[in-house]
Amino acid sequence: MASLRAVGTPLRVGVVGLGKMGRYHLQVLRDLPECRLVGVADPSPAAREAADAGQAPVVRCRDHWELLDAARPDVVFVHVPVVAVYAVAADLLRAGVPVFVEKPAGLFAWQTQHLAALAATAGVRSMVGVNRRYYASLLAGHQAIEAAGGAHSVTVEAHEDPALVRAAGSFPAEVIDRWVVANGVHALDLLRFFGGSTCHVSAVQHHVVSPTLDPGATCAAALVGLANGGVGRLLVDTCAPGGHRFEVRGHGVTLTSDPGFLSAQWRCRPGLGARIPADGTVFGPDAYDQRYKPGLWRQDQAFLRSVQHGQPAPFPASDLADAAVTMGLIEQVCGYDDTEPPRDAAPPG
Ligand SMILES: NC(=O)c1ccc[n+]([C@@H]2O[C@H](COP(=O)([O-])OP(=O)(O)OC[C@H]3O[C@@H](n4cnc5c(N)ncnc54)[C@H](O)[C@@H]3O)[C@@H](O)[C@H]2O)c1
Repeated sequence: MASLRAVGTPLRVGVVGLGKMGRYHLQVLRDLPECRLVGVADPSPAAREAADAGQAPVVRCRDHWELLDAARPDVVFVHVPVVAVYAVAADLLRAGVPVFVEKPAGLFAWQTQHLAALAATAGVRSMVGVNRRYYASLLAGHQAIEAAGGAHSVTVEAHEDPALVRAAGSFPAEVIDRWVVANGVHALDLLRFFGGSTCHVSAVQHHVVSPTLDPGATCAAALVGLANGGVGRLLVDTCAPGGHRFEVRGHGVTLTSDPGFLSAQWRCRPGLGARIPADGTVFGPDAYDQRYKPGLWRQDQAFLRSVQHGQPAPFPASDLADAAVTMGLIEQVCGYDDTEPPRDAAPPG
């Protein structure tokens, strides 16, 4: 890895995986002052050539190995398909490169734990892309809840319809079998965003067996103890058309998501004080969330700054160790097998 630039000077950034998310991140990275794009990588020649790095003279590579060799990046952003994330991120971390990894950082909690351990061994920063945390609407909602004294309850619904995804044929079976990890994580991750650390989980699952439903169709619910004394409630159905929602309650205040989370509704009792937003306030997107894929500007900037300064990214960042906790929580809620396979199934160490 090239030696890190002095604090404040742009980092040499490589981007691996130039599909939908890779293109969204490139739009941000092109404009971030903390970033100097030096290389992109994708096995698809069309994706490599189409990648728009702006004015930056980038090398265009077939994979992350070629990228490391040809561009010597300080950090790498990884946006490869879910099934490839673990191996690619593990290679980069073993090479001593800080990585940003799009969610989910692996399909299994044990994979995310391995990646977190590799980052710790290498002594490098990591970040997992859970961009809802960086929506202006959710940051403002979180700030308002904290101003009222913190969350007493956080309820998150992450209903998915994997049968529809299976029918579309765009994802391999192993990803669809864990679709709540692959997609539901966007909403389930918000339990810890609003509620903080968790201390115990009590989950029940009803596995629906029917020839007309997806093989893994489940109705799951979990009560989660929050370390602040509050209560988390997670609800996940995978047997019918889905949708993501949350509701957070604090002292006299209620925050309710709108569909898509780009806005959220605030209700509160009168007389709570000047620091509490007025009843009826709607928290919405800011200019960054309108110009770029929402959340990405603040999120990518936070990661690059954390590498520049050699410090963990501040709240609401999720690094690999934090993401491993969320992954474990999802496995508990859904009753997924959390057994790590024999050692030789992991990338060689
Ligand atoms: N944060 C979000 O809102 C959000 C939304 C969608 C997807 N995602 C995540 O982003 C990641 C990428 O998803 P996508 O929708 O962009 O997928 P995509 O299929 O559009 O793009 C993936 C790209 O990676 C390339 N690729 C495959 N294997 C590779 C390898 N080993 N090295 C380099 N490139 C490789 C493919 O050729 C393709 O161009 C996934 O982890 C997904 O879960 C996040």
